[in-house]
Amino acid sequence: MNKLPILGAAIFAALSCSVQAKVEDLFKSTCASCHGETLTGGMAGSLVDKEWLTKGTDEALSNAIKQGIAKAGMPAFGGVLSDEEVRTLVVYIREAGAKIEQQKAPESQLGKEFKTKHHTVSTQEILTTDGIVWALDFLPDNSLLYTLREGQLWHFSKEGKKTLIKGTPEVWHNRQGGLLDVYPDPDYQSNGWIYLSFSQPAGKNEAGDEIAFTKIVRGKIKDGTWVEQQTLFEAKPQNRKNRGWHFGSRFAIQGDYLFFTNGDEGHQNDAQDITTQNGKIHRIFKDGSIPKDNPFYNEKGAQKTIWTYGNRNPQGLTINPTNGQLWSTEHGPRGGDELNLVSKGVNYGWPKVTFGMNYNGTPITEHTELPGMQSPIHHWTPSIAVAGINFYSGTQFKHWQGDLFVGSLAKKELHRLRIEDNKVVEDEIILKGLGRIRDVITAPNGNIYLTINDRDKNQSKIIAITQ
Ligand code: HEC
Repeated sequence: MNKLPILGAAIFAALSCSVQAKVEDLFKSTCASCHGETLTGGMAGSLVDKEWLTKGTDEALSNAIKQGIAKAGMPAFGGVLSDEEVRTLVVYIREAGAKIEQQKAPESQLGKEFKTKHHTVSTQEILTTDGIVWALDFLPDNSLLYTLREGQLWHFSKEGKKTLIKGTPEVWHNRQGGLLDVYPDPDYQSNGWIYLSFSQPAGKNEAGDEIAFTKIVRGKIKDGTWVEQQTLFEAKPQNRKNRGWHFGSRFAIQGDYLFFTNGDEGHQNDAQDITTQNGKIHRIFKDGSIPKDNPFYNEKGAQKTIWTYGNRNPQGLTINPTNGQLWSTEHGPRGGDELNLVSKGVNYGWPKVTFGMNYNGTPITEHTELPGMQSPIHHWTPSIAVAGINFYSGTQFKHWQGDLFVGSLAKKELHRLRIEDNKVVEDEIILKGLGRIRDVITAPNGNIYLTINDRDKNQSKIIAITQ
Protein backbone atom coordinates (compact mmCIF):
# COMPACT_ATOMS: atom_id res chain seq x y z
CA MET A 1 0.00 0.00 0.00
CA ASN A 2 2.66 2.49 1.01
CA LYS A 3 4.27 2.07 -2.38
CA LEU A 4 1.44 3.92 -4.02
CA PRO A 5 2.54 7.49 -3.41
CA ILE A 6 5.95 6.69 -4.89
CA LEU A 7 4.34 5.12 -7.91
CA GLY A 8 2.12 8.17 -8.18
CA ALA A 9 5.11 10.46 -8.11
CA ALA A 10 6.84 8.39 -10.77
CA ILE A 11 3.79 8.58 -13.00
CA PHE A 12 3.59 12.31 -12.42
CA ALA A 13 7.26 12.71 -13.34
CA ALA A 14 6.79 10.63 -16.48
CA LEU A 15 3.76 12.70 -17.43
CA SER A 16 5.42 16.04 -16.91
CA CYS A 17 8.37 14.85 -18.99
CA SER A 18 6.11 14.11 -21.93
CA VAL A 19 4.45 17.53 -21.81
CA GLN A 20 6.28 19.43 -24.49
CA ALA A 21 7.37 23.00 -24.05
CA LYS A 22 6.01 25.61 -26.42
CA VAL A 23 8.76 27.43 -28.20
CA GLU A 24 7.58 30.87 -26.99
CA ASP A 25 7.85 29.71 -23.36
CA LEU A 26 11.09 27.91 -24.04
CA PHE A 27 12.67 30.99 -25.52
CA LYS A 28 11.39 33.23 -22.74
CA SER A 29 12.68 31.01 -19.95
CA THR A 30 15.98 29.96 -21.54
CA CYS A 31 17.18 32.56 -24.01
CA ALA A 32 15.42 35.91 -23.51
CA SER A 33 17.50 36.94 -20.48
CA CYS A 34 20.48 37.38 -22.78
CA HIS A 35 19.04 37.81 -26.31
CA GLY A 36 15.98 39.89 -25.34
CA GLU A 37 12.28 38.97 -25.51
CA THR A 38 12.01 40.19 -29.11
CA LEU A 39 15.26 38.44 -30.11
CA THR A 40 16.79 41.77 -31.03
CA GLY A 41 19.49 41.57 -28.39
CA GLY A 42 20.18 42.58 -24.83
CA MET A 43 23.16 41.35 -22.90
CA ALA A 44 23.99 39.20 -25.91
CA GLY A 45 23.63 40.01 -29.58
CA SER A 46 20.57 40.08 -31.82
CA LEU A 47 19.44 36.79 -33.34
CA VAL A 48 17.70 38.59 -36.17
CA ASP A 49 20.45 40.86 -37.43
CA LYS A 50 21.69 40.88 -41.01
CA GLU A 51 24.17 38.11 -40.49
CA TRP A 52 21.53 35.56 -39.50
CA LEU A 53 18.88 36.76 -41.89
CA THR A 54 21.02 36.37 -44.96
CA LYS A 55 24.01 34.17 -44.22
CA GLY A 56 23.27 31.82 -41.35
CA THR A 57 22.15 28.33 -42.22
CA ASP A 58 19.69 26.35 -40.09
CA GLU A 59 22.57 24.05 -39.26
CA ALA A 60 24.82 26.86 -38.00
CA LEU A 61 21.99 28.15 -35.80
CA SER A 62 21.29 24.75 -34.36
CA ASN A 63 25.00 24.09 -33.77
CA ALA A 64 25.41 27.41 -31.94
CA ILE A 65 22.50 26.47 -29.65
CA LYS A 66 23.67 22.91 -29.03
CA GLN A 67 27.40 23.52 -28.68
CA GLY A 68 27.37 27.11 -27.42
CA ILE A 69 30.14 29.57 -28.14
CA ALA A 70 32.34 29.23 -25.08
CA LYS A 71 34.64 32.12 -25.91
CA ALA A 72 31.79 34.58 -26.34
CA GLY A 73 29.80 33.43 -23.34
CA MET A 74 27.00 31.56 -25.12
CA PRO A 75 26.18 28.48 -23.02
CA ALA A 76 25.81 25.07 -24.69
CA PHE A 77 22.24 23.77 -24.54
CA GLY A 78 22.88 20.38 -26.15
CA GLY A 79 22.58 18.55 -22.84
CA VAL A 80 19.57 20.52 -21.63
CA LEU A 81 17.34 20.74 -24.66
CA SER A 82 16.27 17.88 -26.92
CA ASP A 83 17.08 18.00 -30.63
CA GLU A 84 13.44 18.61 -31.42
CA GLU A 85 13.31 21.55 -29.03
CA VAL A 86 16.40 22.99 -30.71
CA ARG A 87 14.61 22.61 -34.06
CA THR A 88 11.64 24.62 -32.75
CA LEU A 89 14.03 27.38 -31.63
CA VAL A 90 15.56 27.53 -35.11
CA VAL A 91 12.07 27.90 -36.65
CA TYR A 92 11.27 30.56 -34.03
CA ILE A 93 14.41 32.57 -34.86
CA ARG A 94 13.58 32.30 -38.58
CA GLU A 95 10.03 33.56 -37.92
CA ALA A 96 11.32 36.57 -36.03
CA GLY A 97 13.79 37.35 -38.81
CA ALA A 98 11.14 37.07 -41.51
CA LYS A 99 8.84 39.42 -39.60
CA ILE A 100 11.49 42.13 -39.70
CA GLU A 101 12.13 41.58 -43.44
CA GLN A 102 8.37 41.65 -44.02
CA GLN A 103 8.04 45.08 -42.42
CA LYS A 104 10.72 46.43 -44.76
CA ALA A 105 9.22 45.10 -48.01
CA PRO A 106 6.86 47.50 -49.84
CA GLU A 107 3.28 46.42 -50.59
CA SER A 108 2.03 46.22 -54.18
CA GLN A 109 -0.73 48.47 -55.48
CA LEU A 110 -3.36 47.45 -58.01
CA GLY A 111 -2.98 49.12 -61.38
CA LYS A 112 0.41 50.65 -60.63
CA GLU A 113 3.51 49.84 -62.59
CA PHE A 114 6.33 48.27 -60.62
CA LYS A 115 9.76 46.82 -61.21
CA THR A 116 10.80 43.23 -60.66
CA LYS A 117 14.20 41.73 -61.25
CA HIS A 118 13.56 40.83 -64.91
CA HIS A 119 10.45 42.79 -65.97
CA THR A 120 8.58 46.01 -65.29
CA VAL A 121 4.91 45.01 -64.97
CA SER A 122 1.50 46.20 -63.85
CA THR A 123 -1.63 44.59 -62.46
CA GLN A 124 -5.18 44.84 -63.69
CA GLU A 125 -8.39 43.85 -61.95
CA ILE A 126 -10.44 41.38 -64.00
CA LEU A 127 -13.35 40.87 -61.59
CA THR A 128 -14.46 41.15 -57.97
CA THR A 129 -16.92 38.81 -56.32
CA ASP A 130 -18.26 37.90 -52.91
CA GLY A 131 -16.95 34.58 -51.60
CA ILE A 132 -13.65 32.74 -51.85
CA VAL A 133 -12.48 32.04 -55.39
CA TRP A 134 -10.59 28.77 -54.97
CA ALA A 135 -9.52 28.01 -58.52
CA LEU A 136 -9.66 29.39 -62.04
CA ASP A 137 -8.84 28.21 -65.53
CA PHE A 138 -9.34 29.23 -69.14
CA LEU A 139 -11.46 27.50 -71.76
CA PRO A 140 -10.20 27.40 -75.37
CA ASP A 141 -12.43 30.38 -76.33
CA ASN A 142 -10.52 32.55 -73.80
CA SER A 143 -13.42 32.63 -71.36
CA LEU A 144 -12.78 31.75 -67.70
CA LEU A 145 -14.18 29.19 -65.31
CA TYR A 146 -13.81 29.74 -61.59
CA THR A 147 -15.04 28.07 -58.42
CA LEU A 148 -16.39 29.69 -55.28
CA ARG A 149 -15.63 27.55 -52.26
CA GLU A 150 -19.20 27.87 -51.00
CA GLY A 151 -20.19 25.62 -53.90
CA GLN A 152 -20.60 27.59 -57.11
CA LEU A 153 -19.03 27.19 -60.52
CA TRP A 154 -19.01 30.37 -62.61
CA HIS A 155 -18.32 31.11 -66.25
CA PHE A 156 -16.88 34.51 -67.18
CA SER A 157 -17.05 35.30 -70.89
CA LYS A 158 -14.48 37.28 -72.87
CA GLU A 159 -17.00 40.11 -72.93
CA GLY A 160 -17.17 40.11 -69.15
CA LYS A 161 -20.52 38.35 -68.63
CA LYS A 162 -20.77 36.20 -65.49
CA THR A 163 -22.97 33.08 -65.55
CA LEU A 164 -23.61 30.78 -62.60
CA ILE A 165 -23.53 27.17 -63.82
CA LYS A 166 -26.64 25.33 -62.65
CA GLY A 167 -26.73 21.76 -61.41
CA THR A 168 -23.18 21.39 -60.04
CA PRO A 169 -22.82 18.88 -57.18
CA GLU A 170 -23.82 19.90 -53.69
CA VAL A 171 -20.73 20.39 -51.52
CA TRP A 172 -19.91 20.36 -47.82
CA HIS A 173 -18.94 24.00 -47.21
CA ASN A 174 -17.33 23.90 -43.84
CA ARG A 175 -13.93 25.05 -42.54
CA GLN A 176 -11.51 24.31 -45.43
CA GLY A 177 -14.05 22.24 -47.34
CA GLY A 178 -16.26 23.21 -50.26
CA LEU A 179 -16.01 23.35 -54.03
CA LEU A 180 -12.28 23.29 -54.73
CA ASP A 181 -10.43 22.83 -58.03
CA VAL A 182 -11.81 23.18 -61.55
CA TYR A 183 -9.81 21.94 -64.53
CA PRO A 184 -10.89 21.71 -68.16
CA ASP A 185 -9.55 18.70 -70.05
CA PRO A 186 -6.55 19.61 -72.26
CA ASP A 187 -8.67 18.07 -75.06
CA TYR A 188 -11.71 20.10 -74.03
CA GLN A 189 -12.30 21.23 -77.59
CA SER A 190 -13.00 17.67 -78.71
CA ASN A 191 -14.40 16.04 -75.53
CA GLY A 192 -15.91 18.86 -73.42
CA TRP A 193 -14.90 17.33 -70.07
CA ILE A 194 -14.35 19.51 -67.01
CA TYR A 195 -12.93 18.07 -63.77
CA LEU A 196 -14.09 19.23 -60.34
CA SER A 197 -12.94 18.41 -56.82
CA PHE A 198 -14.97 19.12 -53.72
CA SER A 199 -15.76 17.95 -50.22
CA GLN A 200 -18.63 15.53 -50.15
CA PRO A 201 -20.66 15.21 -46.95
CA ALA A 202 -20.45 11.76 -45.32
CA GLY A 203 -22.79 11.98 -42.33
CA LYS A 204 -21.42 11.91 -38.80
CA ASN A 205 -18.63 10.05 -37.04
CA GLU A 206 -19.07 8.16 -33.76
CA ALA A 207 -18.42 11.31 -31.74
CA GLY A 208 -21.24 13.02 -33.60
CA ASP A 209 -19.05 15.35 -35.68
CA GLU A 210 -20.03 16.01 -39.26
CA ILE A 211 -17.54 14.49 -41.66
CA ALA A 212 -16.68 14.72 -45.35
CA PHE A 213 -14.16 13.53 -47.90
CA THR A 214 -12.51 14.72 -51.11
CA LYS A 215 -14.49 13.65 -54.18
CA ILE A 216 -13.43 13.92 -57.81
CA VAL A 217 -15.92 14.10 -60.68
CA ARG A 218 -16.05 15.18 -64.27
CA GLY A 219 -18.93 16.60 -66.24
CA LYS A 220 -19.84 18.94 -69.09
CA ILE A 221 -21.48 22.31 -69.36
CA LYS A 222 -24.42 22.48 -71.77
CA ASP A 223 -26.57 25.62 -71.98
CA GLY A 224 -25.28 26.85 -68.64
CA THR A 225 -26.01 23.55 -66.84
CA TRP A 226 -23.65 20.90 -65.44
CA VAL A 227 -24.53 17.58 -67.11
CA GLU A 228 -23.27 14.02 -67.72
CA GLN A 229 -21.45 13.89 -64.38
CA GLN A 230 -19.24 10.84 -63.70
CA THR A 231 -17.69 10.04 -60.33
CA LEU A 232 -13.97 9.38 -60.74
CA PHE A 233 -12.80 8.99 -57.13
CA GLU A 234 -14.24 8.68 -53.63
CA ALA A 235 -12.68 7.63 -50.33
CA LYS A 236 -13.65 4.12 -49.22
CA PRO A 237 -16.52 4.29 -46.72
CA GLN A 238 -14.32 3.15 -43.79
CA ASN A 239 -11.83 5.95 -44.53
CA ARG A 240 -14.25 8.87 -44.49
CA LYS A 241 -13.30 10.95 -41.49
CA ASN A 242 -12.42 14.51 -42.44
CA ARG A 243 -13.85 16.99 -39.94
CA GLY A 244 -12.89 19.97 -42.05
CA TRP A 245 -9.16 20.12 -42.74
CA HIS A 246 -6.58 19.45 -45.45
CA PHE A 247 -8.76 18.23 -48.30
CA GLY A 248 -6.07 19.10 -50.90
CA SER A 249 -6.88 19.34 -53.76
CA ARG A 250 -5.43 20.28 -57.13
CA PHE A 251 -5.45 18.61 -60.51
CA ALA A 252 -2.86 18.06 -63.18
CA ILE A 253 -3.40 16.13 -66.40
CA GLN A 254 -0.76 14.46 -68.51
CA GLY A 255 -1.88 12.44 -71.50
CA ASP A 256 -4.57 10.07 -70.26
CA TYR A 257 -3.54 10.46 -66.61
CA LEU A 258 -5.31 12.61 -64.06
CA PHE A 259 -3.30 13.47 -60.94
CA PHE A 260 -4.94 14.95 -57.86
CA THR A 261 -3.88 15.73 -54.30
CA ASN A 262 -5.63 14.68 -51.11
CA GLY A 263 -4.35 16.28 -47.89
CA ASP A 264 -3.94 14.34 -44.64
CA GLU A 265 -7.45 15.45 -43.56
CA GLY A 266 -6.11 16.34 -40.11
CA HIS A 267 -5.01 12.73 -39.45
CA GLN A 268 -1.28 13.14 -39.92
CA ASN A 269 -0.15 9.58 -39.27
CA ASP A 270 -2.35 8.31 -42.10
CA ALA A 271 0.06 10.00 -44.53
CA GLN A 272 2.42 7.03 -43.96
CA ASP A 273 -0.38 4.45 -44.33
CA ILE A 274 -0.84 3.26 -47.93
CA THR A 275 -4.29 1.80 -47.21
CA THR A 276 -5.89 5.25 -46.93
CA GLN A 277 -6.46 8.07 -49.41
CA ASN A 278 -5.36 10.94 -47.16
CA GLY A 279 -1.89 12.46 -47.18
CA LYS A 280 -1.32 11.28 -50.75
CA ILE A 281 -1.04 12.37 -54.37
CA HIS A 282 -3.09 10.06 -56.62
CA ARG A 283 -3.00 9.03 -60.25
CA ILE A 284 -5.99 7.70 -62.14
CA PHE A 285 -7.04 7.65 -65.78
CA LYS A 286 -9.26 10.53 -66.86
CA ASP A 287 -12.27 8.18 -66.85
CA GLY A 288 -11.61 7.13 -63.25
CA SER A 289 -10.09 3.71 -63.92
CA ILE A 290 -6.83 2.89 -62.18
CA PRO A 291 -3.56 2.38 -64.08
CA LYS A 292 -2.12 -1.09 -63.40
CA ASP A 293 1.41 0.28 -63.15
CA ASN A 294 0.58 2.50 -60.17
CA PRO A 295 3.21 1.85 -57.47
CA PHE A 296 0.93 0.04 -54.99
CA TYR A 297 -1.51 -1.48 -57.46
CA ASN A 298 -0.53 -5.02 -56.56
CA GLU A 299 -0.07 -4.46 -52.83
CA LYS A 300 -2.77 -6.17 -50.79
CA GLY A 301 -5.12 -3.75 -49.02
CA ALA A 302 -3.43 -0.70 -50.53
CA GLN A 303 -5.30 2.28 -51.91
CA LYS A 304 -4.48 1.52 -55.55
CA THR A 305 -4.75 5.10 -56.79
CA ILE A 306 -1.74 6.26 -54.73
CA TRP A 307 1.10 7.79 -56.72
CA THR A 308 3.04 9.26 -53.73
CA TYR A 309 2.60 9.30 -49.94
CA GLY A 310 3.85 11.13 -46.85
CA ASN A 311 2.23 14.36 -48.10
CA ARG A 312 0.68 16.82 -45.65
CA ASN A 313 -1.61 19.11 -47.60
CA PRO A 314 -0.57 19.70 -51.20
CA GLN A 315 -2.57 22.59 -52.66
CA GLY A 316 -0.41 23.27 -55.67
CA LEU A 317 0.13 20.77 -58.51
CA THR A 318 1.37 21.40 -62.03
CA ILE A 319 3.28 19.87 -64.90
CA ASN A 320 6.33 21.54 -66.32
CA PRO A 321 5.34 21.83 -69.99
CA THR A 322 8.94 21.74 -71.18
CA ASN A 323 9.90 18.35 -69.71
CA GLY A 324 6.73 16.76 -68.31
CA GLN A 325 7.89 16.75 -64.67
CA LEU A 326 5.15 16.92 -62.04
CA TRP A 327 5.65 19.45 -59.21
CA SER A 328 3.68 20.17 -56.06
CA THR A 329 3.60 22.64 -53.21
CA GLU A 330 2.54 21.44 -49.82
CA HIS A 331 1.54 23.35 -46.69
CA GLY A 332 3.86 22.60 -43.81
CA PRO A 333 2.73 22.96 -40.21
CA ARG A 334 4.36 26.03 -38.56
CA GLY A 335 7.42 26.24 -40.83
CA GLY A 336 8.42 23.77 -43.49
CA ASP A 337 6.22 24.63 -46.48
CA GLU A 338 7.51 22.48 -49.31
CA LEU A 339 8.13 22.45 -53.03
CA ASN A 340 8.40 18.86 -54.24
CA LEU A 341 9.27 17.16 -57.48
CA VAL A 342 6.65 14.41 -57.58
CA SER A 343 7.83 10.93 -58.59
CA LYS A 344 6.19 7.53 -58.61
CA GLY A 345 5.96 5.71 -55.28
CA VAL A 346 8.05 8.21 -53.33
CA ASN A 347 7.54 8.84 -49.61
CA TYR A 348 7.73 12.59 -48.86
CA GLY A 349 8.10 11.94 -45.16
CA TRP A 350 5.20 13.68 -43.39
CA PRO A 351 4.93 13.55 -40.35
CA LYS A 352 8.18 11.67 -39.68
CA VAL A 353 10.23 14.40 -41.33
CA THR A 354 9.49 18.12 -41.52
CA PHE A 355 11.22 21.47 -41.25
CA GLY A 356 8.27 22.78 -39.23
CA MET A 357 6.82 22.52 -35.73
CA ASN A 358 3.27 22.39 -34.36
CA TYR A 359 1.18 25.58 -34.54
CA ASN A 360 1.33 25.92 -30.76
CA GLY A 361 5.13 25.92 -30.81
CA THR A 362 5.68 22.36 -29.58
CA PRO A 363 7.99 20.10 -31.59
CA ILE A 364 6.80 17.53 -34.15
CA THR A 365 10.13 15.85 -34.79
CA GLU A 366 13.84 16.65 -34.71
CA HIS A 367 14.22 15.11 -38.18
CA THR A 368 14.49 17.33 -41.20
CA GLU A 369 15.62 14.32 -43.23
CA LEU A 370 15.60 10.53 -42.95
CA PRO A 371 16.73 7.71 -45.21
CA GLY A 372 14.02 6.47 -47.57
CA MET A 373 12.14 9.76 -47.41
CA GLN A 374 12.42 12.44 -50.03
CA SER A 375 13.42 15.92 -48.91
CA PRO A 376 11.76 18.90 -50.60
CA ILE A 377 13.53 20.70 -53.45
CA HIS A 378 12.88 23.94 -51.57
CA HIS A 379 11.23 24.85 -48.28
CA TRP A 380 9.91 28.01 -46.70
CA THR A 381 10.52 28.39 -42.98
CA PRO A 382 8.67 30.31 -41.67
CA SER A 383 5.68 29.23 -43.72
CA ILE A 384 4.22 31.44 -46.42
CA ALA A 385 1.24 29.04 -46.87
CA VAL A 386 1.94 27.82 -50.39
CA ALA A 387 -1.06 27.37 -52.68
CA GLY A 388 -1.50 27.14 -56.47
CA ILE A 389 1.52 26.93 -58.77
CA ASN A 390 2.13 27.31 -62.48
CA PHE A 391 5.12 27.24 -64.83
CA TYR A 392 4.98 30.38 -66.94
CA SER A 393 4.56 29.30 -70.53
CA GLY A 394 3.50 32.54 -72.24
CA THR A 395 5.53 34.75 -74.55
CA GLN A 396 4.61 38.11 -73.00
CA PHE A 397 7.30 37.97 -70.32
CA LYS A 398 10.39 36.75 -72.14
CA HIS A 399 12.62 36.55 -69.08
CA TRP A 400 10.12 34.56 -67.01
CA GLN A 401 9.69 31.68 -69.41
CA GLY A 402 9.91 28.36 -67.59
CA ASP A 403 9.85 30.01 -64.15
CA LEU A 404 7.51 28.60 -61.52
CA PHE A 405 5.00 31.01 -59.96
CA VAL A 406 3.85 30.15 -56.44
CA GLY A 407 0.90 31.75 -54.64
CA SER A 408 1.04 32.31 -50.89
CA LEU A 409 -2.00 32.65 -48.67
CA ALA A 410 -0.69 33.74 -45.26
CA LYS A 411 2.02 36.08 -46.52
CA LYS A 412 -0.11 37.32 -49.46
CA GLU A 413 2.81 37.00 -51.83
CA LEU A 414 3.41 35.79 -55.35
CA HIS A 415 6.82 34.13 -55.63
CA ARG A 416 8.75 33.52 -58.83
CA LEU A 417 11.15 30.60 -58.66
CA ARG A 418 13.84 29.90 -61.19
CA ILE A 419 14.67 26.21 -61.18
CA GLU A 420 17.87 24.86 -62.68
CA ASP A 421 18.85 21.18 -62.48
CA ASN A 422 15.99 20.66 -60.00
CA LYS A 423 17.36 23.34 -57.66
CA VAL A 424 15.80 26.69 -56.88
CA VAL A 425 18.32 29.34 -57.87
CA GLU A 426 16.04 32.40 -57.50
CA ASP A 427 13.07 32.98 -55.18
CA GLU A 428 11.72 36.47 -55.88
CA ILE A 429 8.62 38.05 -54.39
CA ILE A 430 6.76 39.62 -57.32
CA LEU A 431 3.57 40.81 -55.59
CA LYS A 432 2.76 41.41 -52.00
CA GLY A 433 -0.12 42.47 -49.79
CA LEU A 434 -2.97 42.49 -52.33
CA GLY A 435 -4.64 39.44 -50.78
CA ARG A 436 -4.28 35.72 -50.14
CA ILE A 437 -3.10 34.27 -53.46
CA ARG A 438 -4.77 30.92 -53.97
CA ASP A 439 -4.35 30.04 -57.62
CA VAL A 440 -2.16 31.17 -60.49
CA ILE A 441 -2.27 30.36 -64.21
CA THR A 442 -0.78 31.51 -67.50
CA ALA A 443 -3.47 33.15 -69.63
CA PRO A 444 -3.66 32.42 -73.38
CA ASN A 445 -2.54 36.01 -74.08
CA GLY A 446 0.58 35.54 -71.95
CA ASN A 447 -0.57 37.50 -68.91
CA ILE A 448 -0.53 35.82 -65.50
CA TYR A 449 -3.92 35.42 -63.79
CA LEU A 450 -4.34 35.10 -60.04
CA THR A 451 -7.20 34.70 -57.63
CA ILE A 452 -6.77 36.69 -54.45
CA ASN A 453 -8.96 36.20 -51.39
CA ASP A 454 -9.88 38.63 -48.64
CA ARG A 455 -10.95 36.40 -45.79
CA ASP A 456 -12.22 39.19 -43.54
CA LYS A 457 -14.53 40.65 -46.18
CA ASN A 458 -15.31 37.22 -47.69
CA GLN A 459 -14.43 38.69 -51.08
CA SER A 460 -12.17 37.73 -53.93
CA LYS A 461 -10.65 39.27 -57.00
CA ILE A 462 -9.22 37.82 -60.15
CA ILE A 463 -6.34 39.98 -61.30
CA ALA A 464 -3.93 39.88 -64.22
CA ILE A 465 -0.24 40.70 -64.25
CA THR A 466 0.26 42.61 -67.47
CA GLN A 467 3.05 44.38 -69.27
C1 HEC B 1 23.97 33.67 -20.66
C2 HEC B 1 23.56 34.40 -21.78
C3 HEC B 1 22.99 33.63 -22.97
C4 HEC B 1 21.92 32.78 -22.97
C5 HEC B 1 21.06 32.35 -21.81
C6 HEC B 1 21.75 32.37 -24.35
N1 HEC B 1 22.69 32.94 -25.12
FE1 HEC B 1 22.90 32.68 -27.12
N2 HEC B 1 24.57 33.80 -27.09
C7 HEC B 1 25.08 34.46 -25.99
C8 HEC B 1 26.27 35.16 -26.38
C9 HEC B 1 27.10 36.03 -25.46
C10 HEC B 1 26.47 34.86 -27.73
C11 HEC B 1 27.67 35.33 -28.57
C12 HEC B 1 27.38 36.28 -29.66
C13 HEC B 1 26.44 37.38 -29.34
O1 HEC B 1 26.65 38.12 -28.36
O2 HEC B 1 25.43 37.45 -30.04
C14 HEC B 1 25.38 34.03 -28.16
C15 HEC B 1 25.21 33.56 -29.44
C16 HEC B 1 24.12 32.85 -29.87
C17 HEC B 1 23.92 32.43 -31.21
C18 HEC B 1 24.86 32.69 -32.32
C19 HEC B 1 24.40 33.98 -32.98
C20 HEC B 1 25.39 35.06 -32.95
O3 HEC B 1 24.93 36.23 -32.99
O4 HEC B 1 26.59 34.80 -32.91
C21 HEC B 1 22.72 31.81 -31.27
C22 HEC B 1 22.03 31.20 -32.49
C23 HEC B 1 22.18 31.82 -29.93
N3 HEC B 1 23.08 32.46 -29.11
C24 HEC B 1 20.96 31.29 -29.59
C25 HEC B 1 20.54 31.17 -28.28
C26 HEC B 1 19.34 30.48 -27.89
C27 HEC B 1 18.32 29.86 -28.86
C28 HEC B 1 19.30 30.52 -26.56
C29 HEC B 1 18.29 29.83 -25.65
C30 HEC B 1 18.22 28.40 -25.79
C31 HEC B 1 20.46 31.25 -26.09
N4 HEC B 1 21.18 31.63 -27.17
C32 HEC B 1 20.74 31.53 -24.76
C33 HEC B 1 24.54 34.46 -24.74
C34 HEC B 1 23.47 33.72 -24.32
